[in-house]
Amino acid sequence: HKQLVIGLFGFGVVGEGLYKVLAQTPSLNARLKKVCIKNPGKKREAPAELFTTDKNELLNDEEINVIVEVIDDAVAAFDIVSTALKNNKDVVSASKKMIAENLPALLELQQQTGKSLLYESAACASIPVIRNLEEYYDNDLLHSIKAIVNGSTNFILTKIFEDGLDFKQALTLAQQLGFAESNPTLDVEGYDAVNKWSFLLTHAYGIVTTTDKILFNGIQNIHASDAQVAKEKKQEIKLVAQAKKLNNGKVAAFVLPQFVKQTDHLAFVKNEYNGVVIESGFADKQFFYGKGAGSLPTASAVLSDISALRYQYKYEYKKLYHHQPHELSTDIYLRV
Ligand code: HSE
Repeated sequence: HKQLVIGLFGFGVVGEGLYKVLAQTPSLNARLKKVCIKNPGKKREAPAELFTTDKNELLNDEEINVIVEVIDDAVAAFDIVSTALKNNKDVVSASKKMIAENLPALLELQQQTGKSLLYESAACASIPVIRNLEEYYDNDLLHSIKAIVNGSTNFILTKIFEDGLDFKQALTLAQQLGFAESNPTLDVEGYDAVNKWSFLLTHAYGIVTTTDKILFNGIQNIHASDAQVAKEKKQEIKLVAQAKKLNNGKVAAFVLPQFVKQTDHLAFVKNEYNGVVIESGFADKQFFYGKGAGSLPTASAVLSDISALRYQYKYEYKKLYHHQPHELSTDIYLRV
């Protein structure tokens, strides 16, 4: 295996988590050479000489063969990722918004450069959902996916409905624990979930789409009184991302708060956990479960991507290139 020499962009919740995780996994033989940060004044639990504010120190360093990008500015992230790929480096990213907004360009860059771009941590953090969708299912046999893909909103719903916190307290707690985006509106109003859903549809069905084509809403209009109604009906309220193959071959997809039966797998998903229920031919029903936000769970997925680069793993987007891709249905909502 080639030695991995890493240049890291970002030292927030995920970046610092990765720093800790790498320190505890010496067998990976990956060396963190430099970390590019925005604010040099901030106190950090790492040697000062590791840090720089000059992105070119990483992007133009020929010894660095892997760029890990975990910043939360989608425009800057796209610039870093595209430059890194063009400079012959493999890339691992955790930037959901950046991927959702630039997938066609990123697909083209991967084809042009032949380098890998992996982003398992960008959806459902610790659950290997992208690789699972990529590798496991034949396109035509994937009947439906129903998932909780945002940890903060699930955490907030759990705290309101089970622990009696009010919305603001629950959100503040989610922020303190490092689950929420720096702009928590992205979580609360469903943007983060629909960003993730848009590229998960690509890995599941070969659909390349944009979030404005997917109906979505967040939990901004959910109140304690709704919980009461849910309880009376033996249901829970969850922010559910759904995709379902229709009889006409098209795929219906949306992200909406829904009543979920207390016996449903997704009702079992509490706090910052995420869950994915897949129905497919032969395998029938499967349930994947794990932490969907937070420093170390997210870093674990970044680590797994870095590790996969040792054997030149690439997303094949096989459903996109080798099969007839599915189309997103536009007249779907009442039929699912
Ligand atoms: N804010 C995101 C969430 C972080 O709550 O799910 C993980 O992507």
